[in-house]
Amino acid sequence: MTRPVAEIAGIGRSVPARVMTNHDFAAIGIETSHDWIVSRTGIVQRHIAGEHETTCSMATDAAHVAMRRAGVTADALDVIVLSTATPDRLLPATSVDVQAALGASRAAAFDVGAACSGWLYGLTVGEGLIMNGTAETVLVVGSEKMSAIVDWTDRSTCVLFGDGAGAAILRRARNGRGILSSFLRSDGTLADLLYRPHGGATVPMSESVLMDHSHLVRMAGREVFKHAVRSMSEAADCALARAGLTADDIDLLIPHQANIRIIESTARHAGIPMDKVFVNVDRYGNTSSASIPISIDEAIEQGRIGPGSRVLLVAFGAGFTWASMVVRL
Ligand code: ACO
Repeated sequence: MTRPVAEIAGIGRSVPARVMTNHDFAAIGIETSHDWIVSRTGIVQRHIAGEHETTCSMATDAAHVAMRRAGVTADALDVIVLSTATPDRLLPATSVDVQAALGASRAAAFDVGAACSGWLYGLTVGEGLIMNGTAETVLVVGSEKMSAIVDWTDRSTCVLFGDGAGAAILRRARNGRGILSSFLRSDGTLADLLYRPHGGATVPMSESVLMDHSHLVRMAGREVFKHAVRSMSEAADCALARAGLTADDIDLLIPHQANIRIIESTARHAGIPMDKVFVNVDRYGNTSSASIPISIDEAIEQGRIGPGSRVLLVAFGAGFTWASMVVRL
């Protein structure tokens, strides 16, 4: 295969208007402090969905922006790939709700479940569908309503996450721009370090599950931290090597925004100075698979990257899953 096969023709984001600062946790009885959260994570605030904002509605709003910028209408979409860890319902996939909301009547739609790495998994699948001739135009969305699955009584996790969506239109590459390399990995032997124990088909939702909060996110923070640093470093190296590039060729590193210390370690390992690293974890917290598309969109808006820029994208999430990609915009 000769790359690039697929390019990002337009990108957009949508985040809820409501902002929750570190100081707001006191009002819900969480014993924490702004200084603790900032020093451990770099997070200052996060956006939290209102009652009527859903994974589908945020995804649809972000998709509209991406489609407008790409000059694409809903009937041009061949496939919709939605990465999410927070589907609105367990069945059917939330991507079909997005399809209906967009009126994309010709599109196939499915969800990808790879947690925070999901959007990069989705882009890679979308590229494959274009390569094998199944699709010409693919919408790849990451949308997450993390506030619906965090345990708001657990201070070690509830301060970390936020809600939002980011979307891209992927189409057949023109002019040598597009995905130059990709790398995907997972390790299910470590699944129990970051998971929702119950509420699925094995132990369905029940009163006791609700009472012990075992349907909500549980995380062994220190262990996750260690693996995130190691895996994101490996991923950065592999995407660069597969693209035949070095760190010096990269205009901007856009890592998954989970924690400023993980971001700094990844950049240090890759040999990329922090002035070439995009950071917005301070304003959004960890929006899981939405974090990279939201970040690309903001980086373009801020003029830090534009047509022709080479970006290195690196993600890590529950599973564990990790992924990376070099894209020429
Ligand atoms: N406020 C104040 N104190 C807290 C808080 C809080 N919000 N949360 C935990 N603490 C306390 C703990 O109770 C503990 O107290 P103790 O020593 O009296 O028992 C102390 O702080 C230290 O707890 P640790 O968990 O060891 O703190 P650590 O320095 O490891 O920081 C953190 C915790 C921020 C979660 C860190 O481990 C981390 O960032 N891990 C990675 C998490 C992450 O990024 N996950 C997502 C990546 S994957 C994905 O995106 C899906």
